[in-house]
Amino acid sequence: MSQNHSKIQRIVILDYGSQYTQLIARRIREQQVFSEIIRFDTPAAKLAENMPQGIILSGGPNSVFEEGAPGIDPEIFKLGVPVLGICYGMQLMSQQLGGKVHPGESREYGKTKIKTSPDNELFTGLPDEFTVWMSHGDRVAQIPAGFKVSATSTNCPFAAVRNEEKRFYAIQFHPEVVHTEHGNQIIGNFLFKICGCRADWKLSSWIDETVARLKAQVGDEEVVLGLSGGVDSSVVAVLLNRAIGKRLHCIFVDNGLLRHNEAVQVEKMFRTKLDLDLHIARAAERFYAALKGVEDPEQKRKIIGREFINVFAEQARKFKNAKFLGQGTIYPDVIESSNALKGPSQTIKSHHNVGGLPPDLKFELVEPLRDLFKDEVRAVGRVLGMDDELLDRQPFPGPGLGVRVLGEVTEEKVKLLQQADLRVQEEIRKLPGYKNIWQTFAVLLPVKSVGVMGDQRTYEYTCAIRSVDSIDAMTADWTRIPYETLAAMSNRIINEVRGINRVVYDISSKPPATIEWE
Ligand code: XMP
Repeated sequence: MSQNHSKIQRIVILDYGSQYTQLIARRIREQQVFSEIIRFDTPAAKLAENMPQGIILSGGPNSVFEEGAPGIDPEIFKLGVPVLGICYGMQLMSQQLGGKVHPGESREYGKTKIKTSPDNELFTGLPDEFTVWMSHGDRVAQIPAGFKVSATSTNCPFAAVRNEEKRFYAIQFHPEVVHTEHGNQIIGNFLFKICGCRADWKLSSWIDETVARLKAQVGDEEVVLGLSGGVDSSVVAVLLNRAIGKRLHCIFVDNGLLRHNEAVQVEKMFRTKLDLDLHIARAAERFYAALKGVEDPEQKRKIIGREFINVFAEQARKFKNAKFLGQGTIYPDVIESSNALKGPSQTIKSHHNVGGLPPDLKFELVEPLRDLFKDEVRAVGRVLGMDDELLDRQPFPGPGLGVRVLGEVTEEKVKLLQQADLRVQEEIRKLPGYKNIWQTFAVLLPVKSVGVMGDQRTYEYTCAIRSVDSIDAMTADWTRIPYETLAAMSNRIINEVRGINRVVYDISSKPPATIEWE
C-alpha cells in the first residue's frame, strides 16, 4: 500500500493494540500529514526501505512485564528518525533504552493536570499547566540516560520525557483523545517542529493521483463492481467512472431485503444522475424462495450470502472482457486483517461480502479506498460532488432486512417492515443530531399482541425501534432519542402501517446485545 505514497511524507504508527491507535492516525491526517498503522514487529530494515519522517509507538493493553508482551526491533532507535512513545509506547521505549519501569499497583485512569517544563518542543505554544487523559497501569520509575523530564503530574513524576539530541519523546498520556487539552497541538508539534513534516496530504490531490493510478492499473481492460448503495462502494464507483468511464460495469443486486424504495433511489442516482453503466439484478423472488421456512439467524445469513454470490456471479459472467473486480475495502478493514495482536475471534455473526466468488471467475482486485478512513471516504465523495444524503448514510448490513425480520422471512413481512422503517427514518432525520447517530432502524418481531383500534380488537405484530451511538460498531450505546421523536415514530407506525399495533424501544447496549437483532 505504501508504495503508492513513496513521494508523500509519512508518519508510521507501530500498533501495540490500543483502542486509540486508529485515532492517532486520524488526528495526524487531519493535520494533512499521511500516516500509516503498521505491525509492532515490523523490522527496522523494512521501515528504512521507505523511511518515514517520524515513528509513533502507540499505547496498548499489555504490561511490558508480561511474558510475550509485544516488543520492538531495537534497531528502530538507530534509524535517526524522531520517535514518540505514547503510554505503553513510553514504557517500552524507556525499558529498551535503559530506563526502569515499575508495575503499577493500581490503574491511573482519567483526567489529570500536568505541569510542563519550559523549552521543550513537544509543548511549544502551550500553557504551563493543562489537563490530559491518562490510562495506564505500569509507570516509568527511572528514565534512560540522556533523557530529561518534560512534564509531571501529582501522581506521575515522568508524565512526559525527552531526549532532544536523539529526538526521542515519550508521554504517559493520550494526546489523541478529546479529553486531553491541546492534544492536536502536541501532535502538530511532533509532526511539524520535531519531524519537519510538510502538510502535503490533501484529498483533492489524492483524488487526482488515484484516478491516474486507476487508469494505469486498469489500462484498456474492464471492471465489474458490486454496488450496494452504501458509501464505500458508491465512492469507488464514482472514482472508477472518472478513470475509465463506461468500461466500469456496476452490478446492484435487489435481493428483496432492501429498505423502502432503495433500488429506485440507486437507479436515479447512478444511472440517471451520474450516467454510470448500471445493471440491476431483480432477484427478490429467488431470495424469498431460498429463505422459505428458515428461522435460524445463522442459516438465514448463510443463505442470503450464498444467493448474493450466485446472483452477482451470474451477472459478472456477462462481462466477458472484465479482468478486474472493484471493491470498497477501506483502511480499518486493512488494519483489522493485518493486526498482529488480535488472535482468531469467535464468529458471532457471519458477515458476507463479495469474497468467495466461484473459481471460474478470476478477477484482479481494484481497491482504491484501501488507504482511507471512513470520514476521508466521505470527504472524497464530497469533493467528487456526490450528494450528502448518500454520503451521510448510516451503515446497512449486507443481509439487509433479512436479519431485521426475526424468524422466517416472507415478502409480506418485509413489506410491513419497510413501511415501519420508512417512518422511523423520516422522523429520525428531523433531529439536528442525526449525523451523530450510528444507526437507527426498525425490527419486526415474530410476536403478535392484542390491541384496540376504534371499537375493533386487533391482533397484530410488534415492531421494535433500535438506535445506537457508536464510533466503530464494536461497542454501542442506545441513543437517548427525545420522547417526542419516539412518540412520533410510534404514532405514525401504529396509525399508518396496517399489521403493526405495538411499538417498543430497544434500550440494550453492545455488549452484551449486538446492534442487529440477528
Ligand atoms: P452487530 O449486529 O454485529 O453489527 O453488532 C455491527 C455492525 O455491522 C453491521 N452488520 C453487517 N454489515 N454485513 C455487513 O456488511 C453483515 O452481514 C452485517 N451484519 C451486521 C451492523 O448493521 C452494524 O453496523
